[in-house]
Amino acid sequence: MLRVGIVGFGYWGPILARNLRAHPRVRLAAVCDVDPARLAGVAAACPEASVSTNAADLVASPDLDALAIATPAASHFRLTLAALSQGKHVLVEKPLATCAADAERLVENAARRRLVLMTDHTFLFAPPVRRLAELVAEGSLGELQQYSAVRVALGRFRSDVDVLWDLAVHDVAVLDHLVGRMPASVSAAGVAHRGEQVDVAFLTLRFPDGLLASLHATWLAPVKIRRTLVGGSRRTALWDDLEPAERLRLFESGLAEGEAPADEDLQRRIGYRTGEVRAPRLEEREPLATMVAELVDAIEAGREPIAGPTSSLRVVRVVEAAERSARLGGVPVDPATGAPVVAHP
Ligand SMILES: NC(=O)c1ccc[n+]([C@@H]2O[C@H](COP(=O)([O-])OP(=O)(O)OC[C@H]3O[C@@H](n4cnc5c(N)ncnc54)[C@H](O)[C@@H]3O)[C@@H](O)[C@H]2O)c1
Repeated sequence: MLRVGIVGFGYWGPILARNLRAHPRVRLAAVCDVDPARLAGVAAACPEASVSTNAADLVASPDLDALAIATPAASHFRLTLAALSQGKHVLVEKPLATCAADAERLVENAARRRLVLMTDHTFLFAPPVRRLAELVAEGSLGELQQYSAVRVALGRFRSDVDVLWDLAVHDVAVLDHLVGRMPASVSAAGVAHRGEQVDVAFLTLRFPDGLLASLHATWLAPVKIRRTLVGGSRRTALWDDLEPAERLRLFESGLAEGEAPADEDLQRRIGYRTGEVRAPRLEEREPLATMVAELVDAIEAGREPIAGPTSSLRVVRVVEAAERSARLGGVPVDPATGAPVVAHP
């Protein structure tokens, strides 16, 4: 049995708790929140768990093998480092940390101690994204050419991080999961309309092979949109998370194979192919149940999980580059070095 403690029992902590408890090889042994009012419901929801208002109790406890950290993003680094230092495997909410230097320290620490470190990039475990990843890996979409993700709603404003670290990070993680590498550059524009934190952001990610990605994230839109278009040379996929009957659709239509003519007859001479639209069958499982199963399997096998250190660090680098670019007025930034990119090849 894997003995797990949760630190942070606000909105997301209880959802994690439910999914952890549902796993047959997990025992939720402790719950912590600095706010005692948050702990009032623990006895009813998780009767087997002890409670504490001090994370240090769980970090130091010899009766816990792993901690799930569901506190605000700004505290992820400190709490994760403390847990790793005490020999605990860690599942931390997204983002892993709020700067690349901190994320690197966590990754290095987990590797040195041979501990599993996983970020709850929940959407990687959502059935449409799992299917999309299979389609991309088997080449079913062809060469990826364009990616457009819109994640907007009247969201919960956060005071510790901006909308890049809170919302855009989801789409950065999904794109990273599909392509497995960082873009050559990231440029971003962001504005803070209410308060200190950027609450509307647009990102452009360029990959060396020509894939161009655009992400739009805001807490300020009165309509909720969760839509991602993944365009390839052979097929295009549309993931609409708010379309329960057909959350993923595949479009066969596109351009006919061959070189595009370069003269003024372009439109007349370009060939289109029309084809069917399919809604692939998706597994029916709550993403967090799959995520918990991956955590447990990785700990038992001593292997790197999906959303483990390698990809989580890339995600932090990309979001940090976006933050830097927005601060520099939209100058493209290389996420590998953090330096502005003067010219694209
Ligand atoms: N994966 C997802 O889809 C998803 C969805 C929502 C939230 N989240 C993430 O979960 C985390 C928490 O978000 P939330 O919406 O639950 O926030 P929240 O404010 O509702 O809850 C955070 C809780 O942490 C507690 N806390 C803060 N510092 C603490 C400390 N040092 N020790 C113990 N408890 C502490 C607070 O009292 C609060 O109850 C954030 O990182 C957020 O990005 C992820």
